[in-house]
Amino acid sequence: MEIVVSGIRPTGKLHIGNYFGAVRNFLKMQENHQCYFFIADFHSLTTHPTPTDLHSSVSIVLAEYLAFGLDPDKSVIYLQSDVPEVTELYLYLNMNAYKGELERVSTFKEKAKTQPDNINAGLLTYPTLMAADILIHNADKVPVGKDQEQHLEMTRTFANRFNRLYKTDYFKEPTAFTYNSKLIKVPGLTGTGKMSKSAGESDCIYVGEDADVLKKKIMRAVTDSGPQKPNSKLSQPVANIFSLMELVSEQNVIDSFKNAYADCSIRYGDLKKQLAEDMEKFISPYRERIKDTLENKQLLSRVARQGAERARESASQTIKEVREIIGFKKFY
Ligand code: ADP
Ligand code: TRP
Repeated sequence: MEIVVSGIRPTGKLHIGNYFGAVRNFLKMQENHQCYFFIADFHSLTTHPTPTDLHSSVSIVLAEYLAFGLDPDKSVIYLQSDVPEVTELYLYLNMNAYKGELERVSTFKEKAKTQPDNINAGLLTYPTLMAADILIHNADKVPVGKDQEQHLEMTRTFANRFNRLYKTDYFKEPTAFTYNSKLIKVPGLTGTGKMSKSAGESDCIYVGEDADVLKKKIMRAVTDSGPQKPNSKLSQPVANIFSLMELVSEQNVIDSFKNAYADCSIRYGDLKKQLAEDMEKFISPYRERIKDTLENKQLLSRVARQGAERARESASQTIKEVREIIGFKKFY
């Protein structure tokens, strides 16, 4: 059976970009793959969360994974920090990860620009830690959004380099995966790029969003001054609204707004109202479920323990074999 690995950094509630870019694929993949879905809490340390914030963010992601339908009896659901083997593999991979190539990673370049006073070594070696997450289970497929493509390319580079160095074919070369053949990029509400926590609260629609907040956020989404002549091209902010509709609205509803745009009769207020209604329909079943799951500490603890045990079984086997390949021999 093919092996799947994916993780999400716990930096708060999951938004619909996370859901459609990653989690929706997790749900399908768990049916017929051996899946390892984890919470990347080591990765989140690059931003120095307080101990309280770290624990609460991890709890939220774990509860949301379960509320969305990830099944601990089908998939291995665990915390990255429960699998110390990952850090050992990270160390080995770092020995063959070069400063120049790490500095060229676009997420690093961006972070170096936006947070110049915190360009730490963990940030630079983020791709090696991510490669360790994936290679520790020797994954075939990694369900992630488009923004993670470059990280995955690095994982293949590191896997390949290890294989060449030790004249082995031990590691496979994992590939990004989505059921829609095209990697997804969900836009945010502020009219710029992809929906992202780092773009702020008003950019993100959370899957557990309160009904009134949801409506307000969408009604405030950035648009433009309207089509100036028939059949004009959509501006980026308006194209974003349509992209969000593609996720939750009926095709005929989308088509009718597209036609209204083409003949200049569109009213953005109506467009956003429609999106708010359809988004509410999508979100409402999750809202209560997330809350209940988060309160069920016993469930969270049982799932995390079971996941840790199963993840470590696979990880410790890899580390044992990697140590042999590298040449660490026991004297005792
Ligand atoms: P954020 O940018 O909000 O910090 P993360 O980087 O933690 O989100 O992303 C976690 C997962 O969700 C990754 O697999 C990523 O590819 C996916 N993802 C995040 N934002 C989007 C988006 N806007 N569109 C598609 N996928 C996304
Ligand atoms: N880098 C991913 C993100 O920001 C999170 C992540 C860490 C991950 N390790 C991974 C995703 C391994 C897939 C596989 O979203």
